[in-house]
Amino acid sequence: QREDKTDLYALLDAAARWYENELPKSADAQAYCKKRGLDAATIQRFRIGWAPAGFDGVIKALGGSDKRMHLLNEAGMVASNERGNRYDRFRERLMFPILDRRGRVIAFGGRVLQSDQGPKYLNSPETPLFHKGRELFALWQVKQANPSLARIVVVEGYMDVIAMHQAGLPIAVATLGTATTPEHTEVLFRAAPDVVFCFDGDRAGRAAAWKALEAALPRLRDGRQAYFLFLPDGEDPDTLIRKEGKDGFEKRLKAATPLSEYFFSELSHDVDTASLDGRARLAERARPLIARLPDGAFRDLMAQELEKRT
Ligand code: CTP
Ligand code: MN
Ligand code: MN
Ligand code: MN
Ligand code: MN
Repeated sequence: QREDKTDLYALLDAAARWYENELPKSADAQAYCKKRGLDAATIQRFRIGWAPAGFDGVIKALGGSDKRMHLLNEAGMVASNERGNRYDRFRERLMFPILDRRGRVIAFGGRVLQSDQGPKYLNSPETPLFHKGRELFALWQVKQANPSLARIVVVEGYMDVIAMHQAGLPIAVATLGTATTPEHTEVLFRAAPDVVFCFDGDRAGRAAAWKALEAALPRLRDGRQAYFLFLPDGEDPDTLIRKEGKDGFEKRLKAATPLSEYFFSELSHDVDTASLDGRARLAERARPLIARLPDGAFRDLMAQELEKRT
């Protein structure tokens, strides 16, 4: 484990700057930003950039020596083929720098402009600076906008976060191509006492919500509250804000389901609570989960609620 990572931070910042400078040079990337409704202030605030075509753009710009090539590799900016030749990991992608909570670039996500150009998003691999299970996209921007937040919203994607910030809701972060981890939830509850998990209205979104619930359970103490917001199938925060505006989306946020309600409704979905047998099934499922809650009022009340229902 290396101790001084100053050189890695400096390299990733230089890479972000290089991508930012490339953006105005690409008519396609500019047109795409326009199509997605990204304004100039947003592009600047999120340091959105463009990785041009070619296999050695970043290498030529930043990999001038063996030492620099080694750093580019360590930072996850290059990949290598079977013969050991290194090439740019990100090519022809709109680039979203991932910042740590101090605003330093630690990784990137890159989006293709068209769906036939390979996986829609490509993220940096795990590196000495980037641990996916701990980092949240845009946490730094959220903290900049409001250091003492009442509520933070977790959404699925880069564009969802950005659309919310641009619409005047700078309270959104995203996990980075991974499920919500217990480490994420700890970071979230340190940022705000109320956490709203908001996932796409598809099957993947519903699975992600239950994962988030499980990750949140051991963190629910001291009056912290988790909520769940389920969007209509086929929608995400980005598309909904376009359709309903900031006000419409805020209404949905206000009506989010408290964790306790989601918990019992999800566990009871195939349970006949009119029969003892059904109630036993519910109790078997709920007990081990309630046991994961820290000691406190929330756990007591959840246990009472289970008794009442069974
Ligand atoms: N994701 C990923 N790799 C993929 C697809 C998705 O890492 N191949 C992650 C990205 O962080 C993405 C999120 O999962 O933002 C949600 O995926 P999806 O809903 O498919 O994408 P959107 O964010 O809605 O992308 P867009 O609006 O740009 O089409
Ligand atoms: Mn790690
Ligand atoms: Mn989805
Ligand atoms: Mn989307
Ligand atoms: Mn989506």
